[in-house]
Amino acid sequence: MKYTIAVIKGDGIGPEVCTAAITVLQAVPGLASKLDFCEYPAGAEHYRLTGDACPKATFDACKAAHAILHGAAGLPGVTYPDGTEAGLDFGLKLRFELDLYANLRPIKLHPGIVSPLRHFSPGQIDYLVLRENTEGMYASRSGGTILRDEIATDTMLITRKGIERITRRAFELARMRNGALRDGKRRVTLCDKANVLRSYAFFRKVFNEVAASYPDIETDYAYVDAMTVYLVERPDFYDVIVAENLFGDIISDLAAGTVGGMGMSPSGETGDDHGFFQASHGSAPTIAGKNIANPHGTILSAAMMLRWIGERHVDQSLTDAAQIVEAAVSQALGSGTGLTQDLGGSASTSDAVRLVCQLVKS
Ligand code: IPM
Ligand code: MN
Repeated sequence: MKYTIAVIKGDGIGPEVCTAAITVLQAVPGLASKLDFCEYPAGAEHYRLTGDACPKATFDACKAAHAILHGAAGLPGVTYPDGTEAGLDFGLKLRFELDLYANLRPIKLHPGIVSPLRHFSPGQIDYLVLRENTEGMYASRSGGTILRDEIATDTMLITRKGIERITRRAFELARMRNGALRDGKRRVTLCDKANVLRSYAFFRKVFNEVAASYPDIETDYAYVDAMTVYLVERPDFYDVIVAENLFGDIISDLAAGTVGGMGMSPSGETGDDHGFFQASHGSAPTIAGKNIANPHGTILSAAMMLRWIGERHVDQSLTDAAQIVEAAVSQALGSGTGLTQDLGGSASTSDAVRLVCQLVKS
């Protein structure tokens, strides 16, 4: 079986890191003939040229593909009259219209990376942030009001169905893992602000209803403000963390900061029928085109894509390839030679890619 991958390279460092990931996948023995990469335009630069950040042809191709691989989108200053960024429409449209409700962001401290948390070494931070990706504060995108240039509103939207499906996903993920590093306990932590807002209290209530079907997994709760401290003080306590869209956006960046920064932040955004893979970082326009961007986040996102396709289509060769790519990234980082400038190393983007390619072949 051959899988079609819709590729959108996007803005800033997007093209470099996306090309890096494709180069690595094509280097995995036997994989190139199974993947058909088809490139389409979208993003801020495309908006600047055409007035459309997400052309219909691109959207349709993403919808039809087996999976979608993205570099990065958005450029500062390329905004709509209301001040929001035009380039972000591509990814947000995919999330909402392809119903990519589960945004999985693995937080792992790889070998060779020095965490700013001085008590934690590689192998001691490894948990998942599962961000609800279609509701919450983000559901207001383009729907908020501006009145008389004086009043602005955005509304939080939470549905029972939305909570149930993301919560189930969190518990299913926990079942497939070996528990938190600290104590080996399988644990799902809900990150919310249920002490203050009704929407979050409702989230917690429905979360608890779903949790009742998973007595084998510990349930845990943290208010988002406290969570920012816990993720710094005791990252090894966490196994799977589930959060509303905006909170998930924020805590996943904080978490990335503990394992090497945004360059080390893969993500996989999936629903029941579609999958969209990109690093959680932005387009970093100030370092674009300099061959210094860290490609590992996108390479690891591409590995998540392989695993997702492999599981859906019961194709072990892709699941194996995912494993090979992840191991190669870890080895490249651990050897020190795959560390880019942001990680304290001196590898260029292409040095890092070359090394990972050699490792996937060996
Ligand atoms: C992310 C990004 C996006 C978000 C932007 C690019 C719309 O920050 O994927 O985390 O805010 O969700
Ligand atoms: Mn973000």
